[in-house]
Amino acid sequence: MAPCRLPVLPVALLWVLVSSSSSSPSTVAPPRDLRISDPGLLGSLDVEWKPPAHIQTFNECTVKYKFEYRSAGDRDWKVIFTRKLKLRVGFDLSRSAEVRLQTLLQGRCTDDVEVQSDWVHATFQSPPQGKLESEVQNFQCIYHDWEYLKCTWQPGLLTPRGVHYGLYYWYQGLEQALQCGHYIQEQGINVGCVLQNLTQAEYQDLNICVNGSAAATLLRPLYTTLRLHNLAQPSAPEQLVLSVSAAQELRVAWSPPGGRVPPHCLEYEVQVAEDAGEAAAAWAIVSTQTETALTISRANQSHVSCVRVRGRTNIFCADQGFWSEWTQDCFSVSRKEDKQLFILIPVVLSLSISLIIFMLIGQCKKRSPAGKPLHAPMGY
Ligand SMILES: *[C@@H]1O[C@H](CO)[C@@H](O)[C@H](O)[C@H]1NC(C)=O
Ligand SMILES: *[C@@H]1O[C@H](CO)[C@@H](O)[C@H](O)[C@H]1NC(C)=O
Ligand SMILES: *[C@@H]1O[C@H](CO)[C@@H](O)[C@H](O)[C@H]1NC(C)=O
Repeated sequence: MAPCRLPVLPVALLWVLVSSSSSSPSTVAPPRDLRISDPGLLGSLDVEWKPPAHIQTFNECTVKYKFEYRSAGDRDWKVIFTRKLKLRVGFDLSRSAEVRLQTLLQGRCTDDVEVQSDWVHATFQSPPQGKLESEVQNFQCIYHDWEYLKCTWQPGLLTPRGVHYGLYYWYQGLEQALQCGHYIQEQGINVGCVLQNLTQAEYQDLNICVNGSAAATLLRPLYTTLRLHNLAQPSAPEQLVLSVSAAQELRVAWSPPGGRVPPHCLEYEVQVAEDAGEAAAAWAIVSTQTETALTISRANQSHVSCVRVRGRTNIFCADQGFWSEWTQDCFSVSRKEDKQLFILIPVVLSLSISLIIFMLIGQCKKRSPAGKPLHAPMGY
């Protein structure tokens, strides 16, 4: 193997010699003054730099920058190619932010070969605050019906007396971070927040910080970045209707839930339990689908069939989401007969009562032919 690699070095040397002899730049300097600053947007940091020195001498060449960033501990860098000298990118502020940047030069001055500079690095760490155990726990959010976001948390392991938690949020379009306007409280302590009117924040990063203080003690803030469409939970499907076709198949149909969830963004899971009481039914998945109707062949036609349907955001609109509650209904041939009986009994009863009344009136009329009948029923 080794002998095969030998020619590589001379070729590289030759290329450097050739390119320098034709006065093409074979190297380019890295950008200068790479700086990170925190505009107070709960995770979005501003990164700025200056072009490398002497860059204006490279005519007929384009200068680009390869910018990479991550929060400390992430395995992969996220990459942005840009010609700008300023970017705003999102980090997890509870970890330190790492960025690196290099100059890319390409064009006639480099014989169309891309020349890369060395990397320059910078990091940013927001000042550490409070003990780790004072951070709130079990923070979770659900975007209900695409109408409101409800976030909840529990006090940290270290909870000083008189603690006060605050939730702040920011998304692109807001001038500054805003505080929650509607807290959920438990024993006088904020343990949740409901945010409304977040349409502008859909399909982009929503930065959230839950911080707190107690008397003079500062607590460790929790930072997170949400994507609303991945936290959506629709309401249960509506108007579930079961019927049995002539071929003894079970027809199931329902409507998408109301609310702001776009119907094309929903998928449904249909489960059926045959031949069992509603409570102890053994549910089996029969379908996961985007349509709102389904025909199921019935295993045992003489028994109850229960069907339940729930919905969630489908993969065309989100990476993930929460299932809705179930909508459930049961169908039983025998119960349908029962129902008919229940309707029949009052009808028969009232018919017979009217018949008796008519007969009584008739008898009265016979006894007092001069008396005018109060009612003159039709056909009498
Ligand atoms: C909803 O948010 C927008 C900005 O995104 C704001 O202009 C509007 O006043 C808000 N509406 C309500 C009802 O809060
Ligand atoms: C919590 O964060 C907000 C937004 O950054 C800030 O204005 C506020 O002073 C912080 N509160 C505490 C107690 O640190
Ligand atoms: C299904 O119905 C038949 C009668 O039609 C009955 O004999 C059978 O036991 C039923 N199956 C179950 C699992 O109950």
